Amino acid sequence: AEIETPKKRRLVVARRVPAAVAERAARDYDALIADHDLDVEEAIAAVIAHRADAILIGHKVGLTAAHMWRLPDHLKIIANPSAGFDHMDVAACKARGIVVTNAPDGLTECTADLAVLLILAACRRAGPNAEVMRTGWRRSFGMPDNLGKRVSGSILGIAGMGRIGRAVARRARGFGMTIHYTDIARLPAEVEEGAEFHASLAEMLPNVDILSLHMPGGNGTVMTAEMFALMRPGSVFVNAARGSLVDEDALIAALSSGHLSGAGLDVYRNEPDFDLRLRDMPNIFLTPHTASATVETRDRMGFDALDNIDAVLAGRPALNPI
Ligand code: DGY
Repeated sequence: AEIETPKKRRLVVARRVPAAVAERAARDYDALIADHDLDVEEAIAAVIAHRADAILIGHKVGLTAAHMWRLPDHLKIIANPSAGFDHMDVAACKARGIVVTNAPDGLTECTADLAVLLILAACRRAGPNAEVMRTGWRRSFGMPDNLGKRVSGSILGIAGMGRIGRAVARRARGFGMTIHYTDIARLPAEVEEGAEFHASLAEMLPNVDILSLHMPGGNGTVMTAEMFALMRPGSVFVNAARGSLVDEDALIAALSSGHLSGAGLDVYRNEPDFDLRLRDMPNIFLTPHTASATVETRDRMGFDALDNIDAVLAGRPALNPI
């Protein structure tokens, strides 16, 4: 008698992924693997044409309620290999009955590493100093010139003490920094590890030398002109979370006036077409949304997305449902 092999489930990988992730997808699924990052229309068309049970999609593909309702019933899961999900209308996903997952664990450490890079860079003038060397070091600096801000012994304010905020706090303690934080609720003492809690960002800002954002996007602008005004004169602003959290006009004003002594940014309101005025600020260090960009982390994020797809298509609960 003929042995029937179970039919492979159908998957669309709607963005370019690391080789190891593509290999696993091709091994375990009847997979349509895109050779470029699909836009939302291409992704929906691919799901329909491939009669897909699952799609792995990226954080750059904005899925609105209208898009959700155009997705066919055979699609069971939308798996994001990213932590953030502010690009999706989560309520619409729920109403549509398609499971949506993210991958919040894999990028914690690398994002914290990058936040520390930004803190160090902004405090120690890595941007202007690299420029001095790139253009030829013509004159030695005098004792009172080209001064940065001391990192060790300074006070770091962390806005959003989730996985990434806590990973930043762990690193900052190694630098001898004092940690203040704000979040929707105070953390248990064993998690807080001596960090000082503030019930609001506004309350925390006047108490810190450096502010690092680690909250999710999607809930509006947090750093407004009023908030920047509450920061200490000469303080440093760092954002490796989401550009949508920041009023960039207000940030530019605070940097131009010298109220802030510097900033380190990995994320922008418009990516990749970021506001070029930022590039021209006096002490700024900019990276192109690259916090999770390491070999190890990108593999892990892809595998996490596939783990979620495996679970849901096998009838098990998702590992990281949104
Ligand atoms: C995330 O995972 O949210 C990162 O910003 C990369 O998309």
